[in-house]
Amino acid sequence: MTIVPTGEALAAEVLGVDLRNLSDEEFTAVHRAWLDHLVLLFRGQHLTDADLIRFSRRFGDLDWAPVQETGRRFVEGHPEIYVVSNVVENGVPIGSLGAGEAVWHTDMSYLETPPKASILYALEVPAAGGNTYFCNMVQAYESLPDALKMQAAGLTVKHDATYNSGGYVRQGLTAVDDPVESPGVYHPLAPIHPETGRRVLYLGRRRNALISGLPLAESESLLDEIWSHATRPEWVWGHQWQVGDLVLWDNRSTMHRRDAFEPAFRRILHRTQIKGSQRPAA
Ligand code: OGA
Ligand code: MN
Repeated sequence: MTIVPTGEALAAEVLGVDLRNLSDEEFTAVHRAWLDHLVLLFRGQHLTDADLIRFSRRFGDLDWAPVQETGRRFVEGHPEIYVVSNVVENGVPIGSLGAGEAVWHTDMSYLETPPKASILYALEVPAAGGNTYFCNMVQAYESLPDALKMQAAGLTVKHDATYNSGGYVRQGLTAVDDPVESPGVYHPLAPIHPETGRRVLYLGRRRNALISGLPLAESESLLDEIWSHATRPEWVWGHQWQVGDLVLWDNRSTMHRRDAFEPAFRRILHRTQIKGSQRPAA
């Protein structure tokens, strides 16, 4: 097994492993590399849903997938699997997020204890477009101007529960576009990563975010400043998908977004999400 860093702000490719048969020694090295590089790419895998779940479980218990946009849970017998797809069968989307852009976000941060990791596995990919980008929120935090860093340390921010990253309203919720009124959960803006001890910026998503204790206008301008810093190209690595790619990310120390793609192309990825062990804490 070889770990090859991308040379960008984050991420490494792991060569020479079959994730269906990972020894304990290999898993320990993968786990270490995941904490070190925040995102890992494994190419050329051949996984069934059961294989994907079995590999994911080595990191811990899994969260059930969010209910898909159509209100159904997909993949019979595997409630842990979230289908990310634009494919429509018999008039019904088989998954979530469509073919549009998915804006910068962290998965499921509307939970009190969000997942610590997510895994995406590519089954069908478009000929062009639909690339996924990750940003390094350790570097984003550490490079904040000192005044902003000090200010961030004491703040909490609301993580909206209304919309997913594709802009679709989540199942069971109604559209709300007032950050003061929208449902969500507050997390520290700059929590300590429980496994590395490093401080990160933890933003969740921009839409309907609100910094606790600030009037809306002040919250908006501070969030705009922090967001434009956090998503600067120097903290970002982008991935162009091939069938058989598996990407594992640390959901506490990264955010991700996806480019739109031509809706006539088919794109199908299966995702698992690994339960966090504790609430984000400052
Ligand atoms: C996700 C997600 C992006 C993509 O599955 O959590 O944000 O590339 N997907 O489809
Ligand atoms: Mn996501």
